[in-house]
Amino acid sequence: MAKKILVTGGTGYIGSHTTVELQQAGYEVVIIDNLSNSNASVLDGIEGITGRRPVFVEADVTDRAALRKLFEDNPGIEGIIHFAASKAVGESVEKPILYYRNNLNSLMNLLELMPEFGVKGIVFSSSCTVYGEPDTNPIDETAPIKPATSPYGNTKQICEEIIRDYIHAVKGVKSILLRYFNPVGAHPSALIGELPNGVPNNLVPYITQTAAGIRKELTVFGDDYDTPDGSCIRDFIDVVDLAKAHVVAMQRMLCKDTDAVEVFNLGTGRGVSVLELIDTFEKVNGVKVPHRIGPRREGDIEKIWAEPRKANEVLGWKAVVPVAETLANTWRWQQHLDGK
Ligand code: UFG
Repeated sequence: MAKKILVTGGTGYIGSHTTVELQQAGYEVVIIDNLSNSNASVLDGIEGITGRRPVFVEADVTDRAALRKLFEDNPGIEGIIHFAASKAVGESVEKPILYYRNNLNSLMNLLELMPEFGVKGIVFSSSCTVYGEPDTNPIDETAPIKPATSPYGNTKQICEEIIRDYIHAVKGVKSILLRYFNPVGAHPSALIGELPNGVPNNLVPYITQTAAGIRKELTVFGDDYDTPDGSCIRDFIDVVDLAKAHVVAMQRMLCKDTDAVEVFNLGTGRGVSVLELIDTFEKVNGVKVPHRIGPRREGDIEKIWAEPRKANEVLGWKAVVPVAETLANTWRWQQHLDGK
């Protein structure tokens, strides 16, 4: 029988792509999402790609009673992938309590209910933000955790600690912590992708909206960093590659005799600068992205890219989509949105 997985935040950007990959790998998916930063129409996109509509529960993971009801109504959930969280760095500085409440309470509700409903493990959506500004690159999982520079980043660090303490105390429950670098792109079908609310904070949706004429111009936040072209360097990982990593992590957690808590960096191992990314986007898609150099953005890391060897060797997973293809997919998705 197909294994049943609960995907929190499953109508969101990474959650929807992961739901597709889980279904294509034969898993049955139950989604919980409060639609605070996504749209129920994403379910049509998922169904369009996989031919199957996941079970969808519109509720907030911080609502313990609703979560309990979900487990009662959907018996046999074996694993959880926990994406649901508030994720805007700037907003977290303005509204720290919202971030701590949403991101910590949701995790604690899930953890507490897991043993009661026989759930064996939880894959947690963490971030390379836990490393802060690295001393050296590429950065591997043994690198020190630096003090968080935003409440958002702090919630990721605290959630990792909560999971470690909980798993230590409660036998028979496991976890895999996945530290994402910069997820970008869209499904090649152009049926699902990123749906930013309002003015995008992140680079790639800003690039696509500028290319589409929705935004007048992109500001590159600083060209005086200590990098070859002066702009910041990131490890941009294709969202479908990232989604596939969740499937292998889930398989490992549920089937293998592994450590109770494991952590993996999910990145390509390649650093690409902001200016290089803009240039590649323009070349691949044959469109212009009007941009100018502006001041640095407060709190930005200068350069960070992953050492993904542990994920490559232990999970048997590797990021394979070339960045040019990712940027072509993301442009197709923008055109799909504009055509609606
Ligand atoms: N950038 C611009 N112009 C923009 C937007 C971004 O130049 O309009 C630059 C940023 O300065 C940065 C790079 O593009 O150098 C990437 O910025 P993003 O906002 O896309 O991504 P970040 O690396 O800042 O943030 C990501 C995740 C966060 C996570 C953070 C940890 O989006 O969730 O990594 O560092 F917390």
